[in-house]
Amino acid sequence: MSQEVRGVIAPGKDEPVRVETVVVPDPGPGEAVVRVQACGVCHTDLHYKQGGISDDFPFLLGHEAAGVVESVGEGTTEVEPGDFVILNWRAVCGRCRACRRGRPWYCFDTHNARQPMTLASGTELSPALGIGAFAEKTLVASGQCTKVDPEVSPAVAGLLGCGVMAGIGAAINTGQVGRGDSVAVIGCGGVGDAAIAGSRLAGAARVIAVDIDERKLRQAESMGATHTVDSSSTDPVEAIRELTDGFGADVVIEAVGRPETYRQAFYARDLAGTVVLVGVPTPEMRLELPLLDVFGRGGSLKSSWYGDCLPSRDFPMLIDLHRQGRLDLEKFVTEKIALDEVEHAFDRMHAGDVLRSVVVF
Ligand code: APR
Ligand code: ZN
Ligand code: ZN
Repeated sequence: MSQEVRGVIAPGKDEPVRVETVVVPDPGPGEAVVRVQACGVCHTDLHYKQGGISDDFPFLLGHEAAGVVESVGEGTTEVEPGDFVILNWRAVCGRCRACRRGRPWYCFDTHNARQPMTLASGTELSPALGIGAFAEKTLVASGQCTKVDPEVSPAVAGLLGCGVMAGIGAAINTGQVGRGDSVAVIGCGGVGDAAIAGSRLAGAARVIAVDIDERKLRQAESMGATHTVDSSSTDPVEAIRELTDGFGADVVIEAVGRPETYRQAFYARDLAGTVVLVGVPTPEMRLELPLLDVFGRGGSLKSSWYGDCLPSRDFPMLIDLHRQGRLDLEKFVTEKIALDEVEHAFDRMHAGDVLRSVVVF
């Protein structure tokens, strides 16, 4: 028996989103229906609405979510009804070469729910990042659910499903920030701020926040940045060198996704340092570098995919740290909103007014 719920639909390219009735089927084998309790508004949802990710309209938006498992299909072992879970983009197979080599975030055989959710008219919906959680209930693959401690607020837990995990993971997983390191983070939105928090968690001694917006720099300080650089008026590469005794940072994390900030990240690191690229560029962007600089500076240039996270390892760990007061995830929630306020939240995000608006049910 399918059920009808309310969900936020992006009907067509650049059209305003709207709340419509969504038909959620009963979970089939390896699937789960989750009663969503909170879902953050992420840039990727806006990109879906703008047609920048795929033409597969209509989309059921939302993918940064936590909730309670309502029912599971046959053969589901990961979770059971009543479990409090954080959703992740894709269930990994656990068997392919990438999974076996300990890099499941590059799994060749990821999957989402097999059955479609539809509009009342029967039109199939494309769930954003295989989740579609701006809805009272959603259907996912059971492997997309990670059970965590239910004592934490859903608004906070959901954030780990995307942006905050991407930023923290860029620091602790990809960048392998260590005790005493100097770290520079270029771009202090939700992802960059999470990278700052992750760097502090990992024991970095200096954490330099770089942004072109003063408001973001003040916020970065509250996340644990020890120094700030306004790169609209100061050369950030020079400033980072000065703040690191002339050397450059051990780890530089780029969280903007533009050629000029990729270049800054490349030159702002110490010799043999690490550059972590978490900002996502567009297909036409290019970066030209003298090969002698690539060769001569040593170290490594790494991109960070979903914070190189392993949900079953990282989600419960970060929830534990939050509960112990060692990682304040509440700071990332700027406002809690209702389902019909997502369009307005996109405007506020675009204006740089919020870190995260979170829909709560
Ligand atoms: N130099 C420094 N900071 C910049 C620059 C620049 N040239 N241009 C923009 N910024 C800052 C903005 O002021 C903002 O604070 O980068 C930040 C970007 O933050 P958000 O727009 O909130 O984006 P966020 O959600 O943090 O994601 C950042 O990471 O995962 C990727 O797709 C995501 O590419 C995006 C990036
Ligand atoms: Zn996202
Ligand atoms: Zn795999």
